[in-house]
Amino acid sequence: MECSSRVIIKVEDLVYRYDSVNALDGLTFEIERGEFVGLVGPNGSGKTTLLNCLSKLYTPQNGYILLDGHDLRELTPLEGAKIYAVVPSEFPVDMNISIVDTVLLGRYPHFEGFWWENERDEEIALNAMEKLNVSGFADRKLGELSSGEKQRVMIAKALAQEAKVLLIDEPVAYLDLGYQLEIMEMLRNLANEGVTILAAMHQLNLAVKYCDKLIVLKQGRVVACGKPEEVVTQRLIEDVYGVKSIVQKIPEAGLVIIPLSTSNNGGALDKETCEKRTIESDKASARWGSVEA
Ligand SMILES: Nc1ncnc2c1ncn2[C@@H]1O[C@H](COP(=O)(O)OP(=O)(O)OP(=O)(O)O)[C@@H](O)[C@H]1O
Ligand SMILES: [Mg+2]
Repeated sequence: MECSSRVIIKVEDLVYRYDSVNALDGLTFEIERGEFVGLVGPNGSGKTTLLNCLSKLYTPQNGYILLDGHDLRELTPLEGAKIYAVVPSEFPVDMNISIVDTVLLGRYPHFEGFWWENERDEEIALNAMEKLNVSGFADRKLGELSSGEKQRVMIAKALAQEAKVLLIDEPVAYLDLGYQLEIMEMLRNLANEGVTILAAMHQLNLAVKYCDKLIVLKQGRVVACGKPEEVVTQRLIEDVYGVKSIVQKIPEAGLVIIPLSTSNNGGALDKETCEKRTIESDKASARWGSVEA
């Protein structure tokens, strides 16, 4: 399998099965260098499984992954770590290791023969900590931090790794509103500097605002892939999430998605209320002149 030099991730016909679940069912897509890609889709659609295949944690039963021109299967862990850094969505809670040491661990692919870091490693780690605003708790233990603080530390560790590709599972899941925007802006800037980012996320409005491209998964398949404004429509939101919504371009904000109700209203409401809500949703969509197709 070949790919052009501007393509840094090429995935073809990828299949991953757990014992009883077909989690990835023949995925094919490409990501170009320096793209910030949002991997979106409902719970259980395969986002984490895909990230785990891309980071070699899982071995797919079928298909190929080319990473920076290499067949992923042939990369050693150290070669891989120079190309991609991973930020998982869950972190160990009981790690008795300081924040500064955690971030320094990100430098390990660059240590040459020795485990001990040099001044440059320390400088890179400290810069990453400053960027993520975690320098203030450099000496505290990872296990003592809040979920959001831990998440920022793990992103700082990935930054310190200076990889070409960042694979992030739910980068803003635990963050407050201010940090959500800050992290997305920082990832956007990194992509502008040439780092390729694939971030699995549920916050559609942030994905639409900051990402160059969205890959939309449903039941282990790619159902849409492209620029956010081309991909995100009311129909897509309803098909993929079962949610009626308004999708509209607002001058100050760009494309925004306003969820109105689930198509079946959670299955908990009687038929009459359900129909009434659907009519109200449709009226609201019409009033807002939203993107229907
Ligand atoms: N360890 C596992 N063993 C068996 N099945 C699994 C395992 N992990 C995930 N699955 C199943 O694989 C499918 C994809 O799960 P995955 O975690 O990749 O989804 P996701 O898109 O990341 O979901 P979420 O948005 O909830 O994080 C789901 O049906 C899930 O139940
Ligand atoms: Mg997941």
